[in-house]
Amino acid sequence: MHDGSGRIVVQNLTKQFGAVTAVQNLSFTVEPGSVTGFLGPNGAGKTTALRMLLGLVTPTAGVATVNGRPHDQLGNPATVVGSVLENEGFHPKRTARNHLLVYAAAVGVPDQRVEQVLGLVGLTPAANRKAGGFSLGMRQRLALATALLGDPQVLVLDEPANGLDPEGIAWLRTFLRSYAQQGRTVLVSSHLLAEVEQTIDQVVIISHGMTRYYGSLDQLRGSQQSRVLVQPADANALVTALRENGFNQVEPTQDGRVAVTGATTQQIGDLASKAGIAVYGMQEERADLERLFFQLTSGQYAGSQLPQTPQYQQYQQPPPPQGGWGGPPPGGQPPQQQGYQQGWGGPR
Ligand SMILES: Nc1ncnc2c1ncn2[C@@H]1O[C@H](COP(=O)(O)OP(=O)(O)OP(=O)(O)O)[C@@H](O)[C@H]1O
Ligand SMILES: [Mg+2]
Repeated sequence: MHDGSGRIVVQNLTKQFGAVTAVQNLSFTVEPGSVTGFLGPNGAGKTTALRMLLGLVTPTAGVATVNGRPHDQLGNPATVVGSVLENEGFHPKRTARNHLLVYAAAVGVPDQRVEQVLGLVGLTPAANRKAGGFSLGMRQRLALATALLGDPQVLVLDEPANGLDPEGIAWLRTFLRSYAQQGRTVLVSSHLLAEVEQTIDQVVIISHGMTRYYGSLDQLRGSQQSRVLVQPADANALVTALRENGFNQVEPTQDGRVAVTGATTQQIGDLASKAGIAVYGMQEERADLERLFFQLTSGQYAGSQLPQTPQYQQYQQPPPPQGGWGGPPPGGQPPQQQGYQQGWGGPR
């Protein structure tokens, strides 16, 4: 039997589709009690990894378990893991209620559970409408209702916010957070960090099928140093003055300003004043998670801007229990992982 822990463990998972390596030596652990975002750009391997976790795709190597067991050894999996994957199909002529009744019978839950899950996802008013006429957002809700039938301990959702209107996204956020607060496990994928940023506490970021970062979102946020954009009378003079005073992370911007990392507005103001350079304005940029997400995944922003703060460590196997860093080591070499095919930031 399974261990009832609510823990998802992905260990050295690899999937090869012919010449395409969809998932490459992927490892992470998801603990109960929080919402974990599974993030990566299109084609990063999220759906493939989730399908392996749910026993729908056979891994080329590695294992993925829920409650210590691969999916096919879970007994009645619907009571352990509920899932919504991409492109869930519904019988178009079947009403939402009838669809759920069919699935309720299949997983062995009483018919009244159907009314409960319809209420949970806000579909009660549409229960007698045919699923074929549902909007994308309504189909997402019906898929989620189906996943909830077995009152599962673990919820795995692939891009659940797709097609949801702002109200639907806000509702989903509240729903997932309260689900996790009950001590359950929620793993939710997205290709947009901004879409799930307010929903998730933990994050697994993948790119080209490999783990780039895994740990708490707060830690990731804290790692991003904020920049100050300064508008001086003489940008070159300010750059020189800053560098002479030991502030080396200084870059002139295209619009004539100077971007400074690692200095406060007060330090910059004092220094400019001492050097006799007029400053017309200063703007502090907030830690930009989206930029960091790009750095970690596409490599388009990679290079000199990559954060090298001490709390980052080269990601290693087995993964650390807390945040790890999957970025390239200093020098820009790709991580030493087996079968690495595409360089950091290389062509997709
Ligand atoms: N059945 C398959 N046969 C061949 N290649 C596949 C198959 N499934 C996925 N792939 C490839 O594996 C890679 C990862 O795809 P996957 O669908 O897992 O990415 P994803 O992260 O879910 O992307 P998206 O954000 O677009 O949903 C892609 O290059 C994709 O083309
Ligand atoms: Mg996908």
